[in-house]
Amino acid sequence: MSTKADSWGSRVGLILAMAGNAVGLGNFLRFPVQAVQNGGGAFIIPYLVCFLVMGIPLLFIEWSTGRYGGRMGNHSTPYILNTMAKGRVWKYIGVFGIFTNIAVAAYYCYIESWTMSYVYHSVVGTFNGMSQADVAGFFNSYVDVAQSTTGIPYEAVIFYIVCLLLNTYILSKGLGGIEKVAKIGMPLLIMFGVILAVRGLTLGTTGASDIFPDANAWDGLNFLWTPQFDSLSNPKVWLAAAGQIFFTLSVGMGTIQCYASYLKERDDIALNAVSAGFMNEFVEVVLGSLIVIPIAAGYLGLDWVLQNAGFGMAFQTMPYLFQQWGDVLSIFAGVFWFGLLFFAGITSSLAMGTPWMGFMQDEFNWSKIKGAWSFGALALLMGLPTVIFYKQGLFDQYDYWAGTVSLVVFAFLETILFSYIFGIKKGWAEINSGADIKIPGIYKYIILIVTPLLLGSVLVSSIPDWVDKVNDADTNNKEWFTDSYYAENFDASGTKKGKVVEVNPNYIKLSFENE
Ligand code: PHE
Ligand code: NA
Repeated sequence: MSTKADSWGSRVGLILAMAGNAVGLGNFLRFPVQAVQNGGGAFIIPYLVCFLVMGIPLLFIEWSTGRYGGRMGNHSTPYILNTMAKGRVWKYIGVFGIFTNIAVAAYYCYIESWTMSYVYHSVVGTFNGMSQADVAGFFNSYVDVAQSTTGIPYEAVIFYIVCLLLNTYILSKGLGGIEKVAKIGMPLLIMFGVILAVRGLTLGTTGASDIFPDANAWDGLNFLWTPQFDSLSNPKVWLAAAGQIFFTLSVGMGTIQCYASYLKERDDIALNAVSAGFMNEFVEVVLGSLIVIPIAAGYLGLDWVLQNAGFGMAFQTMPYLFQQWGDVLSIFAGVFWFGLLFFAGITSSLAMGTPWMGFMQDEFNWSKIKGAWSFGALALLMGLPTVIFYKQGLFDQYDYWAGTVSLVVFAFLETILFSYIFGIKKGWAEINSGADIKIPGIYKYIILIVTPLLLGSVLVSSIPDWVDKVNDADTNNKEWFTDSYYAENFDASGTKKGKVVEVNPNYIKLSFENE
């Protein structure tokens, strides 16, 4: 019962699928939030360092090991890692990567399902005439699954299941289905993104808008982009930066290996990997930082942004902004923005299904249909708790453990495997075989020394943060404030009992244990 070998239709198709894999909700929703929660400009330096000395090297490692494994007829991380080194332990490490995919897909598809619902609500005009508080309230009600007052009972659960079914269906069509979605979705996404980024950028400075005299989009941009060097010694910021780089580039989970395992022996890796990586960074650093933060800071102020930073922020703000453009335009804007997020999301969540499907095929010779449906079922099983207990912060725990820590652990292990067990000599030859560009020789030493060292030290030094995270499972009770806001609201009069848990030059983080 052999299955016909799958392969990519064309180089353009492959690039778009790989770019679609990388460009996702991480770029538009996760990046701004990670940046804000880790002190804005304080985050950017570790982030860029991580991109250059860990992100790019890992792209090379994953693309080349994927192509190598594919040549041996393997299309899943457990089997691919196993072809590179003897010993079953590598197979189990590959299996660990697969479970990371399922855990991430579980909550990722939940956000993706919000985008579907918000396209629907934009079209039927739910947000027409709503105030900012109404729009924010709508979201809070939406995620309060049992009490929801959105008009459709259990709406969040219904859209979640529909979203998983859609992913399952496309996955069951194999690579061709993924390629088709990427070919339609990616160009649309870039187009919508540029339009909205221009809007974010031109929102203006204080007094520029007559509807919102205090609108100051530049506050948000300044906060994001004014570098602060003091956080360079903070392990928590480094973990967050490394985690975001891996999440956004889709490394540390095995999806890139799976996609690359369908390359041919002489296909280029070097140029493809670098192009996909830089394209993702363009979308993240340029488009991703020009939309949600400046627009939200512009209309609601930086303090609001600091207090509300989270995946939901864009859902609590953007529909209100669109309202200001009139009833008809607001429909288009809502469809553009949430449509953009939907395409960004689905081309990534599809990627998360492929390691599981590949493994089921390598191990049990399962068909695509069986592989896809079992993936959908597992994601549903793991995801329902995050849907039901969203308000209790379970969602953030998933994003921390599966979406940050696990990626760094997996990336560390595969770098050791590549450089020291498979061997850097063979590895470097693999990366350069068929290459359309010449990679600077220094990258050989970065992969051999810098990448594993930095990865190892980020991991070890962030262990205290893991402990904090376990002790403080309710992550929603920590908030950042500007000094002035803090002085106004939390001074000696003791109106709020916030406890200062962290101070950085411009912001203070408070925790409200009793709220
Ligand atoms: N890179 C995707 C994003 O930025 C998320 C992702 C992670 C996709 C891991 C596949 C694998 O949203
Ligand atoms: Na990304």
